[in-house]
Amino acid sequence: MMRKIFLSRPTRATLYLVACSGVAALMAPLPDARAEDAGLVEKGRYIATAADCFACHTSPGGKPFAGGYPITTPVGTIYSTNITPAPRTGIGTYTKAEFFDAVRRGIGRGGKRLYPAMPYTSYAAVTDDDMEALYAFFSSAVAPVEQENRPDTVGFPFSIRSGLVLWNWLYLDTRPFQAQPRETPQVTRGRYLVDHLEHCGTCHTPRTMLMGPASGRYLAGSAVSAWYAPNITTDKVAGIANWTDSDLRNYLKTGHALNKGQAAGPMAEAVTNSTQFLTSSDIDAMIAYLREVPAIAGDEKRSRTSYGSADRPEDVARGQTGSENRGWKIFSGACASCHQAEGQGVNAYPSLTHNSTTGGPNARNLVATILTGVERQSGDSSVFMPAFGSGALWVNRLSDQDIADVSNFVLKTFGNPSVQIDATYVAKQRAALTP
Ligand code: HEC
Ligand code: HEC
Ligand code: HEC
Repeated sequence: MMRKIFLSRPTRATLYLVACSGVAALMAPLPDARAEDAGLVEKGRYIATAADCFACHTSPGGKPFAGGYPITTPVGTIYSTNITPAPRTGIGTYTKAEFFDAVRRGIGRGGKRLYPAMPYTSYAAVTDDDMEALYAFFSSAVAPVEQENRPDTVGFPFSIRSGLVLWNWLYLDTRPFQAQPRETPQVTRGRYLVDHLEHCGTCHTPRTMLMGPASGRYLAGSAVSAWYAPNITTDKVAGIANWTDSDLRNYLKTGHALNKGQAAGPMAEAVTNSTQFLTSSDIDAMIAYLREVPAIAGDEKRSRTSYGSADRPEDVARGQTGSENRGWKIFSGACASCHQAEGQGVNAYPSLTHNSTTGGPNARNLVATILTGVERQSGDSSVFMPAFGSGALWVNRLSDQDIADVSNFVLKTFGNPSVQIDATYVAKQRAALTP
């Protein structure tokens, strides 16, 4: 009697892969590569999550990976493209080699240079194994969506994409990823995640005039549209040396670290779409690596989480006329119901003292939070603060003057009193949030 051999799905898929490996697999366009090994696809899903492809390639309320998300840059607005395996408008007909070139070299179809708003300089060192997995995920687990790409609004001379060849010569490092001497395997893994997959430096490292990373300022803090990605080096005053491992773990897992900070805006997106899904060992590896990053000092004299002696706001406001009193009134009406009269917070509503957003070196995150609110999802919980910039929902729209007054009150009473702003500053931040 003949023995019947049952092949499990992965084994059959593996045989299929072996059969069409080599040049054939490399040249096969995306839709033909469907029968990938399930394990490889799942690994690819994890890599795509860690690399946060979703955040940029999905527009608000849009279909996953269908593009159209606006990225504002000093030279114009660039829209992310459709990277679903749709044959006409997506990357369904990209070969594996073309996919690798786009992600790691910034070279799109037909040699078209991609703007570095696509963080290929970070992804350049993604390993071949991880790229294989990413390709398997995008070719077989992402639903194809036909959706046209939106043209960018980049003006001359930056619209001449061939100029990027020079930019790449300056900033694109194509050396493969390698462990450094004397580095523990945990730190090596953390460095791979922070520098390459998670591309933390694209927001936290300031940029030069040419939009490349400023040398000697690695993770020292940078403006990101109207937001500010703070200094996350090991500096005792300007950085995060005073955050414990569990503070950082909580922050990257949930977006909240008690008496330290919360994630709103772009960081809320990073937590919602990416960091919360990393394994505990990957989170710990990133923390271990962040502990090794050289300290870079700033101008501030005190740590941004150290401001804590809130005077009673009524005492602050008593006898005051003008904007201080106005700020207090707005705070009492618009903010105190959640953050409490003395800014001490309650339950999920954070304290405004010992808070990196009110104690920071500038008012960017405070103003952007008031304008846009906070929306973040982690695990089963969602965090929500209404946006006061738009007048949506039940809250009153606050004017630029209102926001300046309430910010100055909050900064003086709960945070860093040396930072004070005016209505023009708020107007500028409001404009930066509108693509
Ligand atoms: C920080 C935002 C951002 C992230 C994160 C990001 N991309 Fe992109 N990507 C872009 C933008 C913007 C473009 C379009 C660039 C241009 O028009 O020059 C792009 C272009 C591409 C292209 C070229 C598509 C085409 O139409 O030719 C591919 C492929 C791509 N991205 C894949 C990925 C993958 C895979 C990931 C995750 C590993 C990823 N991207 C993460 C912003 C991003
Ligand atoms: C898309 C831009 C962006 C990326 C990518 C990003 N961050 Fe952030 N990060 C920010 C912004 C903006 C803030 C301030 C958020 C706030 O206060 O609401 C922030 C805040 C933080 C904070 C809290 C600092 C403080 O004092 O409040 C830490 C820690 C942090 N990020 C670590 C990381 C790490 C680690 C990565 C990579 C895994 C990363 N970030 C990736 C933009 C980004
Ligand atoms: C309906 C409740 C509610 C109201 C009203 C409210 N907040 Fe919030 N606020 C929140 C929540 C929830 C968070 C996010 C907590 C978290 O991230 O864990 C938050 C976060 C913040 C943060 C930290 C943001 C960051 O990125 O670090 C600041 C600063 C802040 N609020 C200031 C204000 C001010 C000023 C007002 C009034 C103009 C106000 N809030 C009104 C609920 C509220």
